[in-house]
Amino acid sequence: MSIDPRTGPAPAPTGPLSTIDYSERIPNNVNLAEDRRLQRALEGWQPKFLDWWKTLGPALPTKDVYLRTAIAVGRDGWAHFDHVPMEEYRWGIFLAERDPDRVVNFGKHKGEPAWQEVPGEHRADLMRLIVIQGDTEPASVEQQRVLGETAPSIYDLRNLFQVNVEEGRHLWAMVYLLHAYFGREGREEAEQLLKRNSGDLDAPRILGAFNEETTDWLQFFMFTYFTDRDGKYQLGTLKESAFDPLARTCEFMLKEEAHHMFIGTTGVQRTVERTAELMKEHGTADILPYGGIPLAVIQKYLNFQYSVSLDLFGSEQSTNAGNYYTSGVKGRWQETRRKDDHVLLDDTREMSLVENGRIVTKTVPMLSALNLDLRDEYVADCANGVRRWNQALEDAGLDERLTLPHEGFNRKVGAYAGHHVSPDGEVLDDATWQAREGEWLPTAEDRQAVATLMVPEYEYGKFAGWIAPPQTGINDQPVEFDYVHLAEEGLV
Ligand SMILES: [Fe+2]
Ligand SMILES: [Fe+2]
Repeated sequence: MSIDPRTGPAPAPTGPLSTIDYSERIPNNVNLAEDRRLQRALEGWQPKFLDWWKTLGPALPTKDVYLRTAIAVGRDGWAHFDHVPMEEYRWGIFLAERDPDRVVNFGKHKGEPAWQEVPGEHRADLMRLIVIQGDTEPASVEQQRVLGETAPSIYDLRNLFQVNVEEGRHLWAMVYLLHAYFGREGREEAEQLLKRNSGDLDAPRILGAFNEETTDWLQFFMFTYFTDRDGKYQLGTLKESAFDPLARTCEFMLKEEAHHMFIGTTGVQRTVERTAELMKEHGTADILPYGGIPLAVIQKYLNFQYSVSLDLFGSEQSTNAGNYYTSGVKGRWQETRRKDDHVLLDDTREMSLVENGRIVTKTVPMLSALNLDLRDEYVADCANGVRRWNQALEDAGLDERLTLPHEGFNRKVGAYAGHHVSPDGEVLDDATWQAREGEWLPTAEDRQAVATLMVPEYEYGKFAGWIAPPQTGINDQPVEFDYVHLAEEGLV
């Protein structure tokens, strides 16, 4: 990798670190060179991955992009920034440091040493969880494939590509585990991860939200805010796993994931800021004729992405989730910080459901409701961003506010599936829902209206009219930095 004269070399990492070997075809910190069979198997998968990237990765032709690449997994200085051609990005296998004293922190194996190999009895469950996680990573790249063609700025274009290459790396992370620990079956699953495709009628991605089209940049920002955040919480539970290589893999992925959510939080924020500005300037909420996205449409996009992301947590009550916990396969969010016995055999909690047209609560065993436990953590976290966006409205002197819809709104999975619930939490009959759905979820006309605003702005430092510029650039670079060089001269 060349050193950019404008940025200089990356600062030397100072934290505890295991070095990543970049002299290998597959950069890694797992001593891949010492396991020839595994190395050969992964090197056999690599060209298939690159093929997939070429056909279903970012469609906009670029020369190079200012991207961060992991150079160490320690606490500080883990990333290096440089202009790189995207297809030459060094996708690699990086696990967080191993703690030789790590033990299982929950369930029936609590206190025993963490597993360095897959126990036979948990093999099927572990493989399933890794495949489901792995399937989401390339799916989002596929969903976002054409967004580059309508980027609101070069800064935003770079952020999109950063997310894309890192989701590609997260696929590598899961494929490594499949190859290294699950034998022939694992290798077959790794092949399938490239064969299923987002929205494909015959071979769709496993989870619903990952088959929805990402139609425009507002949806991309909502996706990185709400759906990448679901990923954060799922990874948070796998990071607690008794299976140590999985835990260490997910811990490092979480580090990268933080930037994806930053893109979502600030992307929606900048959209709201621009909307507020136009509302004030023109004294109307109907700012579409002035080139802004009406707040009501932003709210509908939020309603949609939040509700499909809640579905990703699965049914509120799940025997599987309880079994995963008891067996040590998957923990809770921040397991070790919880003040309970970490076994949960006698604990209970409340859950809501629809009964006779009303939302009621019932008491259920805690172990059966761990999906709900995780979802609660997620919901509380989602509310933080909404507060931030509302601050922008308040700062602009506007009374309008964005809200998270009721947990039962637009749900296809779990206790609310098959019922209609309004954003305020009112249970509705079919006719009322059908009459009012368009007030709450983006209609074809809403998406069309947003689409007309999605004109590319490729001039450095300039931004499309519907979004405010960011406060600062990436890695201390100015906002007008040449983050992306497009393939076609004259486009910038
Ligand atoms: Fe990811
Ligand atoms: Fe992500």
